[in-house]
Amino acid sequence: MTQAIPRKDTPDQSPRGLCGIDDLEDSQISALLDRAGFFLSEKNPRPVLEGRIILNAFLENSTRTRVSFEIAALRLGAQIVNITADHASIKKGETLEDTLATLAAMEPDALVLRSGQNGASRMARDVFSCPVINGGDGTNEHPTQGLLDALTLRRHFGRIKGLNIVICGDILHSRVARSNFLLLTRLGAHVRLAGPDALLPRNLPATPDFTQALEGADAVMMLRLQKERMEKTLSMEPAEYFSAYGLDRKKLARAKPHAVVLHPGPLNRGLEIAPEVADDPVRSLILEQVKNGVALRMACLEHYLKP
Ligand code: NCD
Repeated sequence: MTQAIPRKDTPDQSPRGLCGIDDLEDSQISALLDRAGFFLSEKNPRPVLEGRIILNAFLENSTRTRVSFEIAALRLGAQIVNITADHASIKKGETLEDTLATLAAMEPDALVLRSGQNGASRMARDVFSCPVINGGDGTNEHPTQGLLDALTLRRHFGRIKGLNIVICGDILHSRVARSNFLLLTRLGAHVRLAGPDALLPRNLPATPDFTQALEGADAVMMLRLQKERMEKTLSMEPAEYFSAYGLDRKKLARAKPHAVVLHPGPLNRGLEIAPEVADDPVRSLILEQVKNGVALRMACLEHYLKP
């Protein structure tokens, strides 16, 4: 199938939509975080996206990201069309390229795309004439998760600059870790990546010593083992993994006394995080992240869709 709609981005134009953290100028990052803060306090925002149609294409499973984009769109008065892989022709053998060209021909006002393929949202940006927002592409990036995590940290600490943040788990396969690393370091945080050697990327500073990484941490972000993306299974029993890389109260005690805990979800309790930590009403910001995700996605949709 030929691409009916030519690529719209040119070097002198800012990118249409958000495929990765590097698409954002510093001023856009702070504007999005500020605007999300506003949406958290505004219960009845104006329906500025009335009459707009947003395509929410989730070709990989999702609870938080898909539903929060949907609620964000509805809160701003937009209409949203949801597509999941189970119900799309991808299941009948259609390629991602053909699916994207087909959806682009229907001319939605924005596309939110999650795909297992790295670079899928950039590929979509080549064929869609509307803004494209990456809802997670393979092991590459998940920029709105990075932004909502930054928002959560900024609301909790009042700043991000100078914070010591540990991200632990399956860093290699985590688009969340990548977007967070890019964003939080850009905002002036010190980010340490930790996990078993086999799950650490070679191109980022990382350590297999989680307990040491925790010393002096202000925030600890735990990640799921992304078994579906692993080429070979991790040679560690669940109990062994939990003892080295699972966050429980004892390990958390190595961080600063006020340290908080984040997790993008879905959680595997007892594997990367102990229930006592995940459910700690003072230290755990996990449900705060989910709540902030709606506001942050409202800010993104408004930013990319407003006339
Ligand atoms: C993450 C994702 O899909 O990348 N979840 C999310 O979007 N909140 C992390 C994961 O799947 O482990």
